[in-house]
Parts: sequence; structure tokens; C-alpha cells
Amino acid sequence: MVEALQAITGMNDILPEQTPVWQYFEETVTDLLASYGYKQIRTPIMEYTGLFKRSIGEVTDIVEKEMYTLDKEDGKSYALRPENTAAVVRSMIEHGLTHAGRVQKLWYYGPMFRRERPQKGRYRQFHQIGVEVFNLAGPDIDAELIALTWRLWKLLGIESAVTLELNSLGSLEARNNYKAALVDYLTTYKDQLDKDSQSRLSTNPLRILDTKIESTKTILVNAPKFTDFIDEDSSEHFKGLLMRLDTLGIPYVLNTNLVRGLDYYNKTVFEWTTTALGAQGTVCGGGRYDGLFEQIGGKPTFGVGFAMGVERLILLLKELGKIPTALNQLDCYFVAVGEGTDALALKLSEQIRDQFPQLKLQVNTGGGNFKNQLKKADNSCARYALILGENELSQQKLVCKPLRDDTPQQLVDWADIASHLKQLLK
Ligand code: HAM
Repeated sequence: MVEALQAITGMNDILPEQTPVWQYFEETVTDLLASYGYKQIRTPIMEYTGLFKRSIGEVTDIVEKEMYTLDKEDGKSYALRPENTAAVVRSMIEHGLTHAGRVQKLWYYGPMFRRERPQKGRYRQFHQIGVEVFNLAGPDIDAELIALTWRLWKLLGIESAVTLELNSLGSLEARNNYKAALVDYLTTYKDQLDKDSQSRLSTNPLRILDTKIESTKTILVNAPKFTDFIDEDSSEHFKGLLMRLDTLGIPYVLNTNLVRGLDYYNKTVFEWTTTALGAQGTVCGGGRYDGLFEQIGGKPTFGVGFAMGVERLILLLKELGKIPTALNQLDCYFVAVGEGTDALALKLSEQIRDQFPQLKLQVNTGGGNFKNQLKKADNSCARYALILGENELSQQKLVCKPLRDDTPQQLVDWADIASHLKQLLK
């Protein structure tokens, strides 16, 4: 027997019963983004590996261990995108869309790929909706991005389950000075650090601040604090952001250990986290990356953005019971029983669609007796069954039978059925 093939570990099918929730989520976010004046950009899912190495950073987990790369005979290396900020920046430079200070407010949606250990909320193919804004330097745009996400959580009804964590990473120079002080301090405790942190001490010391290991956390309690190293400009920027969040009434928590897993950030970084999903609690993350254009070979350009994990947000909606009922519910299911009725059902349903294009109408296919078709109508979750039997055929009428309440069924002329349904579904 031939062995049945399965999907790749960590890469999931989104099955028909799950897609209505995805569509609900996608529509909610994309309508919101349009209402703020953001435009969509679509970039390929593969890029040259060098793009991600240069932007995310050579010694990050993503670049070191998690990229799916394809090395070709021509000496070129390609990677499935682990994230999309770098690709959007690459696209701006390539097409000259941020030249001469031109402001861009963009969003994207699509699959990202990271070879992580799969678990609830962590997959190898996952989806992000992200936003990137270019050529705006002030904290007002950082605040707008946060206000936009806050509005989204409120629209979805999950605002009480998420927390905004904020930090400032300052300028490159301030960060380097701080890094040196942190390494000095931690080197005295090197033997007591966990293995990961020991190796990060020489590669990516700031990531140690992010540790989940209790013994390392204890050592960090007395470590130098970045607040003593932050530069004046970044400090003012951060104060400006906090002032605006206070004005908007958006609650936040300051977290000086928040460093993020990608190297391109400066000044503002933020994450929206939840305790409702276990270990994978970050549903959205982002920040400023004013040096990234130059790192990739472009002119200095301010950049700020975020990306949210769609799988995690859908899990959260489920966990909190916030998925609206009757998503994509059918309005009508057309039941046709008896000689010649199925062709007529097709014709009548097309006529109804001409007059009522918004109607969600499914016509029974594949035959079946009355009981069997009515059962299918019920299982479809439609609100009404339209019934065409031999009696109705001879009278040129249809029965319109409510399936979700006890109101009486009605006999309606073929010519009036669309307006009757419009009235019912108003
Ligand atoms: P990130 O924090 O790596 O940032 O990813 C953003 C979000 O994607 C995370 O908060 C999480 O919700 C989701 N996510 C990440 N990895 C996985 C995974 N393996 N499975 C499921 N969901 C996941 C970025 O990617 C930056 N590009 C965000 C950004 C945009 N910064 C500025 N602009």
C-alpha cells in the first residue's frame, strides 16, 4: 500500500470550517488599515538570503537557525522570508519609493517561515499582518501605530486580554555603550549564567535581558540599566510617545528588558502580550528601525512598523469566546424535489441572484428525497429553506420555510421571491 502523505510538520492546512474566522479577522484588520489611509504592498515570499542576514542580524536565532534556505549551483542563496520588514525596505529602495523624504504608510499580509520547534501558537509556516511607515521621524507616528492596534483589539473584543509592553533601545551609540557595560557586569558571573546566555555574551549580549531562565534573571537584577545610558534624543522621543499614549488613554507597561529578536531596532520597541495563550504570548511586535535602509544599501530613511501573528490572534479569539456566531451564514438553501424541479431550481435561483446579488444562496445538488434535502438545508445552517416540489411547481410558487425559529412557512410567487427575501433579511 502507498503510504499516505501528510503536511510538513509545523505547516498547517486552514480547513473550510476555519476559514470564516480567518476571513472575519482579515476583513476586520484590512478595513481598519484602509480607514487609517494605509496601502497594501505585496512582495515575493523568497528573497536573497543576504537580505535577511544584513537586516535581521547574523547572530540572531532567526538567521542562525531558523531560515529555510536554498543554495543554488549559481552560487546564489535564496531564503523563504522569515519576516517581511526587510523585504519591504528592499522594495522601497529598489523602486525609489522613499526618495526625497516621500512618506509611505504600507501594510502587508502573508505567510512567513521559521524553522522553530512547533507548539501551540508557534509554527514553521505562519501568517503575519504587518505595517511599515517610512520617512516619519517623530513619536506621533509611533503613537498612531499603537492607537491603530489598540483600536483593533477593541474591535475584536480582546482589549482586556492584551498588555502593551514598551521600551526604548536608544541610538546605536548609546546601545553600544550599554552593551559594553552589560558585558563587563555579566562576565563576572559568566560561570553562573545558563548556557545560551553564556554564548550570547560574546554574540548578542542584549538578548540575555530577554532570558526566561530564573537563575539568569536573578543575576540581571543588579545589572546596569539602559535608562542610565540612553541618549538625549531617544529619551525625548520616548517621552513624547508616552505623553501621547497617556493623552489617548492607552494603557502600557514599561519593560526595560524588552529587546526583541531582530537586530534592526532603535528607539521605540513594543510588544502586545497575553497570558491567555501559554508560552507563545506575544501577539504583535514592532518598533523603530531608522538605520535599516543604510544597512541594506539605501539612503538614511526613518522607518517604524509592527507585525501581528494571525494564528496567535485567532487562537486568542477562540480562547476568549470572541468569535462572532453565524460567520458567513447562508441565507437560503434551495430544496428541489420531483421531476424537472432541479433545472428549474437553478433557473429560479439565478433569477433571484439577479435581483438580490447579496443573498447567500446555496442550491441543492446531487438530488435526494425531501427529508434528505431538508436535512442538508438544516446542516448548512441556512436561515431559510426555499422548497420547490411538484405542488409548488404547478402553482408557480415556492415555500419559504424558516429553519432557525418557529415562525410559519409562507407560499410565495416565483416573481416575488427576491423581494420577499429582501424583506425577511432586512
Ligand atoms: P516578530 O516579533 O519576529 O517581528 O514577529 C511578529 C509576530 O509574528 C510575533 O509577535 C508573533 O505574533 C508572530 N510570530 C512570530 N513567529 C511565529 C511563529 N513561529 N509562529 C506563529 N507566530 C509567530 C517581526 O517579524 C518584525 N518584522 C515586526 C516588525 C515590523 N517590526 C517592524 N516592522
